[in-house]
Amino acid sequence: MQLPETVKIVEVGPRDGLQNEDTVIADTVKIELIQRLADAGLPTVEATAFVSPRWVPQMADHDRVLRSIRRRPGTNYPVLTPNLKGFENAVAAGAEEVAVFGAASESFSRRNINCGIDESLERFAPVLEAAGNQGVRVRGYVSCVLGCPYEGEINPATVAHVAESLFRMGCYEISLGDTIGVGTALRAQRMVAAVAERVPMDCLAAHFHDTYGQALANLLAVLQLGVATVDSSVAGLGGCPYARGASGNVATEDVVYMLHGMGIETGVDLDDLAATGRWICAQLGKHPASRVARALAAKQAPTGH
Ligand code: HMG
Ligand code: MG
Repeated sequence: MQLPETVKIVEVGPRDGLQNEDTVIADTVKIELIQRLADAGLPTVEATAFVSPRWVPQMADHDRVLRSIRRRPGTNYPVLTPNLKGFENAVAAGAEEVAVFGAASESFSRRNINCGIDESLERFAPVLEAAGNQGVRVRGYVSCVLGCPYEGEINPATVAHVAESLFRMGCYEISLGDTIGVGTALRAQRMVAAVAERVPMDCLAAHFHDTYGQALANLLAVLQLGVATVDSSVAGLGGCPYARGASGNVATEDVVYMLHGMGIETGVDLDDLAATGRWICAQLGKHPASRVARALAAKQAPTGH
């Protein structure tokens, strides 16, 4: 069985995790969350999204958040940028890495970014060109790689096409998103295998949501193929504003516990991470979705009679 020795975790909680929350979260809470996650050892913490505040009101404070975080040397703080306007605002606020986000589903693309797949790639082109000129790294997302809330099953060939297009345009890494968390292990493997024929495996990331409880199984399945970058969200926060019913990303605590248990290094301190998960959940008035977080909390709680 082929497994990587180390895995890079891309923490998406402050963006993917919070973008769907109905109540406005104070920027000070977001800033503290980002800083605590970086302090827990996460090498990449996706900080916010420079998207239209009309489309995603929760990310309207992107400028303040990105400008205010205390940056840890060596940590990356990418932000989402759907178009050149978002890119320019992000760079002005100090972004050194951005992410463009497309989809393998025409309908999802239209609902999420108001244009179809081909047009989305046209809109990303100037972002990649400007980023190249300014030395800004660009990550590429593909949503709905294992299913779409509007179109159902998605053909792996379509995923491979969008992933390859983003890679050829200059994205250094392609994150494959099971946005609504409907995938199962063998389908995840087949999809990754199809993409890996067009994009090198070491440039692929798995971005799985846990709606049907399959995320860890799917992750293990694609780690066995050679994927070594995993997106996850502290406490399993999240959902997607344009994918009703989708639950959060796989919880970072669950991913770290699984990886460390298999002897795979992440650089993350699980106790610090779990404490951060409990803290942000207290701020949001919810319980961590992470099974590992709940198990650790139960172990630490005083025993009653
Ligand atoms: P649009 O309405 O087609 O944009 O939206 P437009 O170019 O026609 O402009 C309309 C107005 O928006 C204008 O303002 C622009 O200035 C403004 P007005 O003149 O009317 O006052 N505008 C902007 N404002 C701020 N920042 C910008 C920006 N661009 C235009 N960047 C747009 C197109 C892409 C902007 C919109 O659809 C949008 O912001 N969508 C973002 C949706 C989103 O953030 N979704 C969640 C992230 S994706 C995700 O979660 C999936 C992922 O996690 C992977 C997975 O889970 O699988 C990545
Ligand atoms: Mg997501």
